[in-house]
Amino acid sequence: MIPMEHLAPVGVFDSGLGGLSVLGEIRRRLPAEDVIYYADSAFCPYGSRSAPEIRARSEAIAGTLIAEGAKLVVVACNTASSVAITHLRERFDVPFVGLEPAVKPAVRMTQTGKIAVLATPRTVSGERLRWLIDEHARDVEVYTVPAPGLAELVEHGTLAGDEVQGMLRPLLEPSLNRGADVIVLGCTHYPFLRGEIERFIGDRATVIDSGEAIARRTHYLLTKMGALRADAEPGHLQFMTSGIPEVVGDIATNLLGESIQPIAVPA
Ligand code: DGL
Repeated sequence: MIPMEHLAPVGVFDSGLGGLSVLGEIRRRLPAEDVIYYADSAFCPYGSRSAPEIRARSEAIAGTLIAEGAKLVVVACNTASSVAITHLRERFDVPFVGLEPAVKPAVRMTQTGKIAVLATPRTVSGERLRWLIDEHARDVEVYTVPAPGLAELVEHGTLAGDEVQGMLRPLLEPSLNRGADVIVLGCTHYPFLRGEIERFIGDRATVIDSGEAIARRTHYLLTKMGALRADAEPGHLQFMTSGIPEVVGDIATNLLGESIQPIAVPA
């Protein structure tokens, strides 16, 4: 272990602002950690990009975070995790925590034996989700629902209202009608729409995401590395974006409920 490693920051990145839902959980569980968050807003959404493009962006961003001293990197994006995590682990020495849709807990929770996974088109068509389902959900019916455009709502700061409800209906109604009683939010942007999603679903199903599990995993790995920071003072958040800092900053401030002033990084 590098002697001062516990003082180094945790790196977190996403295609944009969805990863702030994971950041919120990490800061709740690990309040003393310094965090560097990278929002790749100039390239958002990843969900409709090719796997090689996402891999190249993920590698560049991870490289930036590690150059800034990150002791561990959380890929707070299901889409990037599904296509790039193996590549990142081969390419860099620091530990990576990847996101994946919470299929396993959903299987434990379902009473009807039917669950739905809402995710970006790239995650839904990816091998990783197929593998997760084959591995953990053999005895359960899984409806995978690509949701193009949903992450973009959050990215633009639209979290509630008729536009959101209008988009949710065709995405959720078919799975609910077939009896799905657990809805997995398989994209880190979607927890910001949770209020509207639960309003639409009512008591027909339970909604789950992966944020808390990722914070637990991050805690576990930092402890194992001997790199956990346990100061009484709250950690510092540094925010980088490849997008327009003023625009990204306003929406991030609203999502996180604290003032965010992003530093612009050339994409
Ligand atoms: N937040 C990302 C995820 O968890 C993807 C959103 C996007 O860029 O399409 O999958």
